[in-house]
Amino acid sequence: MNISTQVPTGSATIDDVRNYWNSRPCNIRHSSHPIGTKDYFDQVEARKYFVEPHIPGFADFPRWKGKKVLEVGCGLGTDAVNFARNGADYTGVDLSEASLSLARQRFELFGLKGQFKVCDGESVAEQFPANSFDMIYSFGVIHHTPDQRAVIENIRKLIRPDGEFRCMLYAKHSWKDAMIECGFDQPEAQSGCPIATTYTVEMVEQLLGGLFKVESTQQAHIFPYVIEKYIKYEYELQPWFKAMSKEMFAALENRFGWHMLITARPI
Ligand SMILES: C[S@@+](CC[C@H](N)C(=O)[O-])C[C@H]1O[C@@H](n2cnc3c(N)ncnc32)[C@H](O)[C@@H]1O
Repeated sequence: MNISTQVPTGSATIDDVRNYWNSRPCNIRHSSHPIGTKDYFDQVEARKYFVEPHIPGFADFPRWKGKKVLEVGCGLGTDAVNFARNGADYTGVDLSEASLSLARQRFELFGLKGQFKVCDGESVAEQFPANSFDMIYSFGVIHHTPDQRAVIENIRKLIRPDGEFRCMLYAKHSWKDAMIECGFDQPEAQSGCPIATTYTVEMVEQLLGGLFKVESTQQAHIFPYVIEKYIKYEYELQPWFKAMSKEMFAALENRFGWHMLITARPI
């Protein structure tokens, strides 16, 4: 597969970003069941954590029982339902109305409690009282918005002084970024993603600088499947990954994974 449509348009606007995610909410095709049914959401969740098994460990859902959690960019709400099931007092925001209405529907369907608001992470602090969340979580979101520092500034206002920020940003020194640069891949399932910035650890330090202290960064996740099969819900490893031992693949993910998993605390 050779993909020529490529990322960044320095001039992309927040409307471009909103339109892109409204036209195809993230992971919307993670299930073959009718959209909005229980079977649909169960399959979306099973597929997400099968392909991205590092997420539950990183989010550490049980840890936030009884705590106030804000998710910036909750998408369809796959992580959201897991925060709520584990007893968090959960709030999710997203720029995309199409994504958020599915997340709301999902909570209703499963009898879960949560608050949702369509809003831009770049101004999310206007929506809630200052210092009101124990944990703010944002998985694969901030690298998609035009003013990424503005999101961090807003999150800083909302987090309690003893709170924690957990965030995933795309990693520059990654297998996927190398494939994108060579025209063999693209950042998202749908082409034409307006913005998908990739980060080094130094860039993360800069992004959070003066507002948060970075406690840890770790790379994870190389997508190893043959795309043509994957879209038919068949999981066949690419021959070059099939040839590797599990240990070699894990070492590769550790060093060149697409997901930079960041934990940070407010300064
Ligand atoms: C790759 S998806 C990730 C969704 C979800 N976190 C997940 O892991 O499934 C990116 C999400 O970020 C949202 N997003 C992008 N820019 C945003 C912004 N400025 N404010 C709020 N949400 C934003 C998109 O609408 C989309 O739902």
